[in-house]
Amino acid sequence: MMVHCAPVLLWISDANNNCVFFNAPWLAFTGRTMEQEIGFGWAAGVHPDDYERCIGITGALFGKRAPFERDYRLRRYDGAYRLVRDTCVPRFTYGSPSHFEGYIGSCFDISDAQRTAESYEIMERRLLEAQKLDTLGVIVSGIAHDFNNLLTGLIGNAELLEMEVGGNTSAQHTAHTIEQIARSGTHMVRQLLDYAKSTPITMNSIDLSATVQETVGLLNTAVRALTTLDVRSHGALPILADPTQIQQVLMNLVINAADAIGEHDGRIIVETRRVVANRALREQFQLPLCDPAYALLAVIDNGMGMSDEVRENILRPFFTTKPHGRGLGLASVAQIVARHQGSMQIASARGNGTRFEILFPLHSAAPLTK
Ligand SMILES: Nc1ncnc2c1ncn2[C@@H]1O[C@H](COP(=O)(O)OP(=O)(O)OP(=O)(O)O)[C@@H](O)[C@H]1O
Ligand SMILES: [Mg+2]
Repeated sequence: MMVHCAPVLLWISDANNNCVFFNAPWLAFTGRTMEQEIGFGWAAGVHPDDYERCIGITGALFGKRAPFERDYRLRRYDGAYRLVRDTCVPRFTYGSPSHFEGYIGSCFDISDAQRTAESYEIMERRLLEAQKLDTLGVIVSGIAHDFNNLLTGLIGNAELLEMEVGGNTSAQHTAHTIEQIARSGTHMVRQLLDYAKSTPITMNSIDLSATVQETVGLLNTAVRALTTLDVRSHGALPILADPTQIQQVLMNLVINAADAIGEHDGRIIVETRRVVANRALREQFQLPLCDPAYALLAVIDNGMGMSDEVRENILRPFFTTKPHGRGLGLASVAQIVARHQGSMQIASARGNGTRFEILFPLHSAAPLTK
């Protein structure tokens, strides 16, 4: 019979909405027999989360006797759920009056097409974010450069003034203060230029766990006396990265965590481990489909946490809630993560600590240089 050769999954129902026939590709797909599938038996293969919607749509539209379409996940013979698009068309007898005889449905497995579309969307969004950051970098470096020239002029003139006022100690002191303030301005400008710097980064295959261990050694002084810094590394994690940039990420996150704990008893956990990119993780981190496993870097603190409003703004350059903060730490973290094809998630609640999780694609091809 031709219906058994058609490269689609076909079903036929009677006028009472009972399925009376499934073609061979359908039975091969579900790995079940015709006896198991007929009537409502086939519905046992619909994913429990899609069941209501799938059967509900059928119930409502079946009575209208018009064509309709529904997407649902159907269990394949190997237990995997695949997303299928089921196009359902009513059947009528020929002649007049014609009688409604039920429906015929054809299903295509659209999981792969759907995932490819999702990957494109994710990549497009990332590209836009990267472009936004690049544009910002250009603007920032332009302003910083001009500002630096202004400050150089200011310092020079303040120095001249200091000499010219001679014995007037009060005026000399004021001129000196102006010079000092301008100098701290140049320091800030240098940091801005560092942030905006578009120098290409040098990527090597490095061990994330080892880099983290080394960096944490430098960070103990940044953490206050009452805070414990706990490092949990679970094995070597090769990633393609610029080690100084990874250090910068870790330093920013740990210093922020230490600031959030302040002078209280507290704990910062820095964790690295391998994670497999299952569907849940892909959705949570908006990961593309190409990398099967990732290296996770997590920095978790039990500090003051953030309100939703703060949480929404923390990646914005210059956003800070600290009296002497510059608000550039996390903006540069986000930039570095994007440059490394990584993905970052932040969970925080006021009074309940904060968790930063970053995934970098695992790199297994090249030997480790660190
Ligand atoms: N672990 C954390 N817990 C609570 N709030 C945090 C944490 N990390 C960041 N924040 C919030 O995010 C803001 C922005 O952080 P970011 O590191 O970008 O700038 P900053 O620390 O204020 O200044 P700096 O440029 O010196 O790092 C902080 O001011 C703080 O409000
Ligand atoms: Mg910071």
